[in-house]
Amino acid sequence: MTTPDYAEKIPNNVDLRDDRRLQRALESWQPNFLSWWESMGPTLPTRDVYLRTAVNVGREGWAHFGHVPMRDYRWGIFLAERDPGRRVGFGDHKGEPPWQQVPGEYRSELRRLIVIQGDTEPASVEQQRNLGATAPSLYDLRNLFQVNVEEGRHLWAMVYLLHAHFGREGREEAEELLRRNSGSEDAPRILGAFNEETPDWLSFFMFTYFTDRDGKYQLGTLKESAFDPLSRTCEFMLKEEAHHMFVGTTGVDRVVERTAQLMVEHDSDEVAARGAIPLAVIQKYLNFHYSVSLDLFGGETSTNVANYYTAGLKGRWLEDRRRDDHKLTSESIMVDALQDGEIGQTEVAALVGLNTDLRREYIADCQSGVKRWNRILSGAGLEPRLKLPHVAFNRKVGAFAGIEATPDGELLTAGEWERRKGEWLPTDVDKTHVRSLMQPVHERGKIAAWIAPPRNGINGKPFDYDYVHLA
Ligand SMILES: [Fe+2]
Ligand SMILES: [Fe+2]
Repeated sequence: MTTPDYAEKIPNNVDLRDDRRLQRALESWQPNFLSWWESMGPTLPTRDVYLRTAVNVGREGWAHFGHVPMRDYRWGIFLAERDPGRRVGFGDHKGEPPWQQVPGEYRSELRRLIVIQGDTEPASVEQQRNLGATAPSLYDLRNLFQVNVEEGRHLWAMVYLLHAHFGREGREEAEELLRRNSGSEDAPRILGAFNEETPDWLSFFMFTYFTDRDGKYQLGTLKESAFDPLSRTCEFMLKEEAHHMFVGTTGVDRVVERTAQLMVEHDSDEVAARGAIPLAVIQKYLNFHYSVSLDLFGGETSTNVANYYTAGLKGRWLEDRRRDDHKLTSESIMVDALQDGEIGQTEVAALVGLNTDLRREYIADCQSGVKRWNRILSGAGLEPRLKLPHVAFNRKVGAFAGIEATPDGELLTAGEWERRKGEWLPTDVDKTHVRSLMQPVHERGKIAAWIAPPRNGINGKPFDYDYVHLA
């Protein structure tokens, strides 16, 4: 493994300079990436931003912090260190050494998996591009841009695999990743949640909590892959991803904290007129982002995913901690299902139920956020009252796509749903109110009234540090 050279056009630890053909291919993709960044990336003009840049993958520290103009951010290619003792942990190839090259028989499946992951990375940058104009503080603005540049780097990570291992088809897919755009009529992003808008900061925090967390779980399954370069890339991406989770978790913390303060101060739920976001509205945003993120895990059962598992392409979350044979040929699992029109469960072979397995791991993780936000409420002397809606609520994918249910899991007719959905999902009135609060605070050390300041700054810097210099 080489130490990345920052004088190179594309910083990397994959010995790019020893493979001139690959290097040239990536260098010819680079200007296209930059023009995508210019036209679809952050719109707020900035001089420079205090950013973390990945510079290595070792334990001695992998990142460097400093003010950089975003256009000059070094989007590099970093794979976690190769483990010579690594063995495939599941499926038909369990116990065999991992693959350094793509086996011919799995070529199209692996390409598909990489493209789907790769498509989400630039999508979220596109979704978040206008948020800089309404940032509640320079600290938050910096975090937004940090997430954005790292999603850009994650796109690089996937494009590297496509270029290095999938020939001409891979290069074409890399171009397509820049051609599709979030919300576009004729070339939308592949997955639904990545075509939704992120029009305000409450949405951004919910997105980084719930939707980025889906990404964490997908990367976790790809990290298990028998295709070693994919595994190592995902392992390193997960390091960066932790900060995205942090932005979402603490972002919602701070919104809830501010709302709770005002509720206690005025002994009333009515905080909207006082410039904060009512708990009921926070709950509606949570309901929306959670339910669209559940859809990202696909149907309850999938033979494709069963095949990916058996072939060793995609494992389970924390595969090595599972106490079973890691082949699952004789196991079963209960999955959500409609039974005679009622919400219920049915037993299926564990292999075809792997989407359900992953979704459940994700749900348990989401539950911890809700617990934490309720702890903020009870700490302020209020009733804990936020909760995750039922899995059947507002679903567009899977067993419950064809029905409507309340957040408590009671079935509704289509008419009732239409009449009542505004009780549970953000209405135009809610969204307009939230948007009206989104007045930019771009002054050092200041913060908007709808959100509490963070407990700590970034990298040991104080909250009032000059995280961003506007142009
Ligand atoms: Fe990402
Ligand atoms: Fe992310």
